Amino acid sequence: MSETGEISSILNEQRLFSPSVGFSENSQIGDLETYRNIWNYSKNDPEGFWGRKAEEMLDWFQPWTKVLEWDEPHAKWFTGGRINASYNCLDRHVKSYRRNKAAIIWEGEPGDKRTLTYQQLLNEVCRCANAMKSLGVKKGDRVTIYLPLTPELSIATLACARIGAIHSVVFAGFSSHALAERNNDAESKLIITADGGWRKGAITPLKQNVDECLAESPTVENVIVLKRTGQDITMQPGRDHWWHDVVDSKSHICEALPLDSEHPLFLLYTSGSTGKPKGILHTTGGYLLGATLSTKFVFDLKENDVFWCTADVGWITGHSYLVYGPLSNGATTFMYEGAPNFPDAGRFWKMIETYQINTFYTAPTAIRAFLKAGSQWPNSYDLSSLRLLGTVGEPINPEAWMWYREVIGGNRCPIVDTWWQTETGSIMITPLPGSTPTVPGSATLPFFGVVPEIVDANGKPVPVGSGGYLTIKQPWPSMLRTIHGDDERYKRTYWSKFPGRYFTGDGARMDKNGYYWIMGRIDDVINVSGHRLSTMEVESALVSHPSVAEAAVVGIPHEIKGEAIVCFVSLDSYAERDEALEDTLKSHVTEQIGALARPESIRIAETLPKTRSGKIMRRLLRDVASGRDSGGDISTLEDTQSLESLR
Ligand code: PRX
Repeated sequence: MSETGEISSILNEQRLFSPSVGFSENSQIGDLETYRNIWNYSKNDPEGFWGRKAEEMLDWFQPWTKVLEWDEPHAKWFTGGRINASYNCLDRHVKSYRRNKAAIIWEGEPGDKRTLTYQQLLNEVCRCANAMKSLGVKKGDRVTIYLPLTPELSIATLACARIGAIHSVVFAGFSSHALAERNNDAESKLIITADGGWRKGAITPLKQNVDECLAESPTVENVIVLKRTGQDITMQPGRDHWWHDVVDSKSHICEALPLDSEHPLFLLYTSGSTGKPKGILHTTGGYLLGATLSTKFVFDLKENDVFWCTADVGWITGHSYLVYGPLSNGATTFMYEGAPNFPDAGRFWKMIETYQINTFYTAPTAIRAFLKAGSQWPNSYDLSSLRLLGTVGEPINPEAWMWYREVIGGNRCPIVDTWWQTETGSIMITPLPGSTPTVPGSATLPFFGVVPEIVDANGKPVPVGSGGYLTIKQPWPSMLRTIHGDDERYKRTYWSKFPGRYFTGDGARMDKNGYYWIMGRIDDVINVSGHRLSTMEVESALVSHPSVAEAAVVGIPHEIKGEAIVCFVSLDSYAERDEALEDTLKSHVTEQIGALARPESIRIAETLPKTRSGKIMRRLLRDVASGRDSGGDISTLEDTQSLESLR
């Protein structure tokens, strides 16, 4: 995609895979006609459709009076209704035959194991909620959760939901600085963390990061610390409390608060096209409906399934498909703490065999890494329990898709390539496994209630086969409501480029079968290993280093990560340019943001190529970074010398 906005479509994939007759016969939506009928109904009568689904799928303390109040770009869903997400994920199952069913099956990286039934999970959630209350947390307060992928991560989120506190989960791979930035924006009162977490056999020093963060975070009054790794940490008396002291002693009874359907459920920070992360706000009733409905139909959920979404709860995928979606449906969700290749590249496959996982939902970057590690790893395990595979987070290349299908899915499991975003809350474009024939690399068709349209720069629909901007024409229940503290940015980012439509930030095209092909971001957002990063965020991290005068960051294609970060920097005139500087700057970015933002390479130049008006020409830098010859117009370039020296 070029900066001028022309979008060309390059893929021309012809392979088509229909679900097997056996799979279709046993699935909830077994043919394309049924899908189309439901989709048409949801499009033509969205309030009728969503009202019906909200009634069928969720338990309400008080029914809503209106399905949708739409005052563009602000939506209110199920107004007047009272509901609690934690009640829907726990209590209603405990009152049913599911009481002793496994809700969470967990394995830690060192190999420790835990299973929590619905009753046990409810008890823990209530204890944690009571502990938060005892520390003064009230409805509407923000709570930052910075935990390794342990059951306590789900327990803490559900405990917040239970008392109407708003959780802001920060991925444990983020640095103390990134944590402080998110924490300050949310003005959290409480942080829930652990002494550390396990990753590739090493300890991530979470409490230490929190201590550093607290030097910059004045709003935090208390910290709850889970003992996970057991190394020495500092506990500040009065402020820091061990989980086992403050949670375990509390009563296992805590009534779920009936909350307004539009009561905020959580904030989740994601990168936008500026340096400042956006606190995406999701509310209770609508979000929960989106997560519940999509889990049930996209993953064709069966009562006895063991469902594994490999994402961390630090990302939206973990919120919707590790916690809220599966638990609201009363499913068994599998959780694994650590790295996919620890102690070796067979770890995932071994767990699939051990726990007889039925549905496996992961990211293309992981699939590409497994492909590279070699088929001998999955081939040494029995993967026959798998029924369905899914991918999310970035476009999947056909080679990885085919390997996934053949080697992991034994040519038997349908693959759902699901397109969605932190902002959309739940899956938007996806095959339904029993009805949609799939093509490697296409997310295929819109989910129920989702009405996408691809348009040109003027907002006019583009012809079939042409690339354009992906927009959504109708509001949907799990859409974000605003950006925390910055409604103007919400309007500007999502609703101003194409009035009357939600703009996704992605380019896409539709083929002659009506299938969508996502072509990636068209803004300054890059997608590294399925994680969204803003080039500006990395740039501000770089210029915060005393040696750096200016920085420009671009994404280039990368075999495993999808995209990799390449940085161009010019140095301050006093800066010493030594051998170690490149590594120093890489570490600096890691410290500022987290390991996920570590640059692939850093190129140091006298000056950066700019237009006469002083704008850095990123298009040229992208060409330089990926070793392409810069075609196109460079006549606006101020100083052609700078480009030559970078090459
Ligand atoms: O560019 C799209 C890409 O990931 C972006 C959303 O990132 P995030 O909010 O971090 O959420 C990721 C998990 C939902 C999108 O704008 N993306 C996500 N899924 C796909 C995808 N690109 C292509 N195909 C997908 N299936």
